Amino acid sequence: MLPDAIKNSEYYEKFIAYKDKVLALGNDSLEKTLAIALSLCLLCSILVSIAAVALKPLQIDNKSFDMKKNILDVAGLLEEGIDVDQAFSAQIEEKLVDIETGDYVEGIDPKDYDQRKAAKDPAQSIAIPPEKDIAHIRTKAKLAKVYLVKKDSAIQSIILPVSGYGLWSTLYGFLAVANDGQTVQSINFYDQAETPGLGGEVVNPKWRALWNGKKIYNESGDPALGLIKGVVDNSKPGSEFQVDGLAGATLTSTGVTNLVKYWMSNEGFAPYLNKIKSGSEG
Ligand SMILES: Cc1cc2nc3c(=O)[nH]c(=O)nc-3n(C[C@H](O)[C@H](O)[C@H](O)COP(=O)(O)O)c2cc1C
Repeated sequence: MLPDAIKNSEYYEKFIAYKDKVLALGNDSLEKTLAIALSLCLLCSILVSIAAVALKPLQIDNKSFDMKKNILDVAGLLEEGIDVDQAFSAQIEEKLVDIETGDYVEGIDPKDYDQRKAAKDPAQSIAIPPEKDIAHIRTKAKLAKVYLVKKDSAIQSIILPVSGYGLWSTLYGFLAVANDGQTVQSINFYDQAETPGLGGEVVNPKWRALWNGKKIYNESGDPALGLIKGVVDNSKPGSEFQVDGLAGATLTSTGVTNLVKYWMSNEGFAPYLNKIKSGSEG
């Protein structure tokens, strides 16, 4: 089983000689106990390393599968029993957007781009000045990966990555916006560590459904959408900019409001959404 290069090396010979010597020692010998314990540690670490390397491609595939599922979900295209990979490639187009200008970026394959990694790389990110960092994320990637749902080559939905700090964790999710650049279709958070039953209710489908049809920008063009304390009275003016707060989770609720306001502002996707609205980008 071992390669000849190892078998023929002087170290291998020394190892075999030492092994025979140790095995010949009595079971109560300290040297034998230590040598066997060390060998076991070495063997286990080799097995763990092999497993980590061998399972890496599977982990990457699972992560990518999960992300596709989340994107289909926020796009309203996730149906029971569908082939996720096939549905994703047939209905979703990935694009890179320069956050500052709102222009599409060509020449980089979006499949090879990891926005979360880029946000941590000084060469690919921008430090957010503290007074503007309402989402408490400190840095943002220069390029964002957005997802388009198209029908007969016309955009139906734009799925935008959003992130921001809640109470315990940074929440990562997607906001699906209609082609008017103003109406929310859905929101979901695929990575967060808020308390289940409190801030963790951001993943509750009933709460998520409250976002459908809400408006992002007020008459002055500023992002106005956010969570309120309590339940929204839909008969009141301004309720189109309001979503029910999460009960017992004011800090997570504030975090969600802040992250939506940040990413929909000029610091986030407003330049891009303005281009979509004006029809200059499709
Ligand atoms: C164990 C524990 C977990 C909590 N988890 C959250 C949470 O995930 N999100 C949150 O906003 N508040 C959470 N809170 C509550 C906050 O500490 C704080 O009391 C609350 O946000 C105050 O706002 P309220 O008006 O919603 O009660 C938690 C409290 C406790 C004791």
